[in-house]
Amino acid sequence: MRIEHGSFDAHICESSSVFLNRIDTFQEGVLVLEISGDVCGYISSEIWDYSEEIVDNRFNLNHMISDIHTTAGSELYISSIGILKEYRGKGYGKLLFSELSCRMIERYRISSMILIVSTKWDAARQIYEKAGFKEVHRIPGFFREGEEGIIMRRHL
Ligand SMILES: CC(C)(COP(=O)(O)OP(=O)(O)OC[C@H]1O[C@@H](n2cnc3c(N)ncnc32)[C@H](O)[C@@H]1OP(=O)(O)O)[C@@H](O)C(=O)NCCC(=O)NCCS
Repeated sequence: MRIEHGSFDAHICESSSVFLNRIDTFQEGVLVLEISGDVCGYISSEIWDYSEEIVDNRFNLNHMISDIHTTAGSELYISSIGILKEYRGKGYGKLLFSELSCRMIERYRISSMILIVSTKWDAARQIYEKAGFKEVHRIPGFFREGEEGIIMRRHL
């Protein structure tokens, strides 16, 4: 939660019960980055049934993973990633992202990955674009008025 609050504006921080639900439901889908005993980053994910059509409310912040996650699904949804400010810009975000993607692709029948990112989060967008994600949809005002959510997807 320290990383969550250090990474996102208060109005979009997700709650501790959401994080606990992610860990209880799909522990393998959550990784933390630990440096010299200090947890300084995390990434979380869930597996969804694939739907070609983008359903906006699947992306709702604070949704419970247990309502939608299924290991029989084929689309990996990256629900969140954050790195403490003092550790940013050193390649750790990219590392967490690629480590989680590789593990999930190895273990599950994943054929696509999807996520939502703000138009304002340049570092995150850079990681996703370089990993081959393409914009497929936008949700106006998703993060706040005037701040769109860009849904990006990558077919493997
Ligand atoms: C997104 C985040 C996890 C990235 O972690 P990081 O460790 O700083 O990222 P990395 O050092 O691995 O850098 C990844 C890429 O972004 C680029 N980058 C880093 N900061 C950047 C910035 N402010 N603007 C543009 N690009 C940036 C890096 O150059 C690198 O690109 P490269 O592959 O061309 O070298 C981190 O910035 C963060 O926690 N941000 C706040 C939370 C957030 O936005 N989460 C995204 C949710 S969708």
